Amino acid sequence: MLESQAQQNFNNEKSLKIITELHSIFTKRKSTRHFSDHPVDINIILKAISIAGTAPSGANKQPWSFGVIQDQDTKQIIKQKAEQEEDVFYNQKAPQKWLEDLKPLHTKPKKDFITQASYLIPVFYKNYELDSDNNRDKNYYVKESAGIATGLLISALHLAGLSTLTYTPTNRKFLVDLLGRPSNEGGMMVVATGLPSDNAQTPVISKKQLEEIAFIYSPVKSR
Ligand SMILES: Cc1cc2nc3c(=O)[nH]c(=O)nc-3n(C[C@H](O)[C@H](O)[C@H](O)COP(=O)(O)O)c2cc1C
Repeated sequence: MLESQAQQNFNNEKSLKIITELHSIFTKRKSTRHFSDHPVDINIILKAISIAGTAPSGANKQPWSFGVIQDQDTKQIIKQKAEQEEDVFYNQKAPQKWLEDLKPLHTKPKKDFITQASYLIPVFYKNYELDSDNNRDKNYYVKESAGIATGLLISALHLAGLSTLTYTPTNRKFLVDLLGRPSNEGGMMVVATGLPSDNAQTPVISKKQLEEIAFIYSPVKSR
């Protein structure tokens, strides 16, 4: 039988070596909440967003958009607004269980990383598309698709040597308003990125073992 180009190029041993190296690189990814002011070229950020844009999406609708914020004034406005929301969250709205789950991460209402990070990348999902006459065109699996794209973004930034924090302000509507996004978009999260500061500490947390998250099925008996 004739082999396709992909089949000819594929080598199990080589792929296992690559994936093992990637695993080692990805186990070093840690969310950072303390950034340095070391300069980071905007072209790295733009290329990472291009990589995010290669993500699969429902019916290839690509229901996402990404902002790039580098100026201190805008970061400061976002910090102020986010901290107001976080204050209410931590002191009034958050269920006790949620606060307990957050304890190991040492997060608090003050969000200094927002102004410290070299770039803030607000991620928006598009509920539907709007044409020039404001007609709606349906999108599918919007949040799933935008989430996968954000995963690629975080991975690309990590591979490029940058740290990230996936930040989800409690109320993300203010991002849509502040940044003048169109009415078909919703705020999903903000990816803060840059290099960690010298004294950056990461929480002591662990990841589930492979056996806990992967299930290899030998033929499933019909039920
Ligand atoms: C959808 C999502 C929302 C998150 N929101 C916040 C957040 O609002 N504030 C924060 O400090 N970290 C946030 N994080 C980061 C998580 O706390 C972090 O990923 C988790 O503790 C695991 O740590 P690691 O990223 O170092 O593996 C969020 C992560 C995800 C994926």
